[in-house]
Amino acid sequence: MSEQPRTVTLIDEATGKRVELPVVQGTMGPPSIDISGLYRATGYFAYDPGFLSTAACRSQITYIDGEQGVLLYRGYPIEQLAERSTFLEVAYLLLYGELPTAAELADFSRIITHHTMINENLKEFFRGFYHDAHPMAIMVGVVGSLSAFYHDSTDIHDPRHREIAAHRLIAKMPTIAAAAYKHSVGEPIVYPRNDLSYAANFLQMMFAVPTERYEVDPVAERALDLLLILHADHEQNASTATVRQAGSSGADPFACVAAGIASLWGPAHGGAAEAVVRMLEEIGTVDNIPRYIARAKDKSDPFRLMGFGHRVYKNYDPRAKIIRKTCMDLLESVGQQSDPLFELALRLEEIALQDEYFLERRLYPNVDFYSGIIYRALGIPVQMFTVMFAVARTVGWVAHWMEMMADPAHKIGRPRQVYTGAGRRDYVPVELRKPAGHGPRATNGERR
Ligand code: CMC
Repeated sequence: MSEQPRTVTLIDEATGKRVELPVVQGTMGPPSIDISGLYRATGYFAYDPGFLSTAACRSQITYIDGEQGVLLYRGYPIEQLAERSTFLEVAYLLLYGELPTAAELADFSRIITHHTMINENLKEFFRGFYHDAHPMAIMVGVVGSLSAFYHDSTDIHDPRHREIAAHRLIAKMPTIAAAAYKHSVGEPIVYPRNDLSYAANFLQMMFAVPTERYEVDPVAERALDLLLILHADHEQNASTATVRQAGSSGADPFACVAAGIASLWGPAHGGAAEAVVRMLEEIGTVDNIPRYIARAKDKSDPFRLMGFGHRVYKNYDPRAKIIRKTCMDLLESVGQQSDPLFELALRLEEIALQDEYFLERRLYPNVDFYSGIIYRALGIPVQMFTVMFAVARTVGWVAHWMEMMADPAHKIGRPRQVYTGAGRRDYVPVELRKPAGHGPRATNGERR
């Protein structure tokens, strides 16, 4: 027996008008009320800043149950993928919807491996940046510039062209990321190597120098591969929503991903791993933890416990659980019995999770609380942490972009607003205006 389509009735108490709104139900997760016809039927907009209750699209890629702390990629639990899969296999799964056969995986790996080189002219872009530029600033610029290199061959309405763009982005992102790092340390850019795995190739592009032979440590390779898997997708997070939003106008995929990188950079999103390590360094010792916990709870202080809390997870982030365990194993296997920052992070977690403030608000460690400890153990500098996230999340971004482009129902993302500015008023000639006291300030002495 097929289920009756459900509706929800909205009653405007002022006018007595009733509107039936259809309910949309996914395979899992809470039902959604379809309010797309709300304005036409009632004259009301829906107001939901930050999308606290709004599903912006239908998607088959990733499922999160934030109450239970569950994360599934195409239905597969993150714990199983972390333990048994590889990053490229996960990338295939996210892009194409199914786990690949051995032959499909070999073919996909060959395609990605053979797209890792970047156009030689791109190197000139890196030289244009200050040596102390943040690598995320370089990423935004260089990835955006890929549109200029592949613009002619990217017809976004052709599924095959979209697939080629997706492969190029996944393949070239580590090369660009490592080049951004090499630029910041004044070393020559290292070419990719086709005999290495995705993670191993990234490590050699980061750490090899022309004067010495570089051997990839298999423990480091596996740890990096794991972090890439854990960061590969997370449904409609801010950067993925940005990529979809940019792409909804029909923009070029390289430009859309550059927009995603910009969104990821913020400390409330992918910038949190860098912010966590900087916070732990500032806290310094266990004795100082209570002072910082007090600051995090003080509403007049902008300080927040970085790496804590999540919009969706109201339980322990399943990725953080895996990373916490990996930190212990990795530190042991690289012969570093401990990292003082890891010890401090463990203690901070313990103290925070006994505190009413964090318990009441259900604030737990998120993916970024411990990931920086692993990056440190791998020798990756702190300003590269968000870049590492961008390399991994590129898969999610392009999977969502491809899903959106293939959806015949997709529309340009054009939110409405509640206007709170001045009412209509008439233009005043300059000689009659009174100073309002909020013009621009002089910029003397700043770097130009
Ligand atoms: N430290 C102290 N208080 C916090 C924190 C925190 N890290 N996170 C949330 N709160 C409080 C917040 O002040 C608010 O309190 P009240 O109800 O008294 O006003 C309550 O908890 C709810 O927080 P919110 O800001 O309304 O929640 P949100 O869903 O808008 O924000 C968040 C989610 C991740 C931006 C936020 O928890 C945060 O800023 N965390 C620190 C930054 C961080 O670790 N970000 C990485 C997120 S995971 C990686 C990724 O996917 O990007």
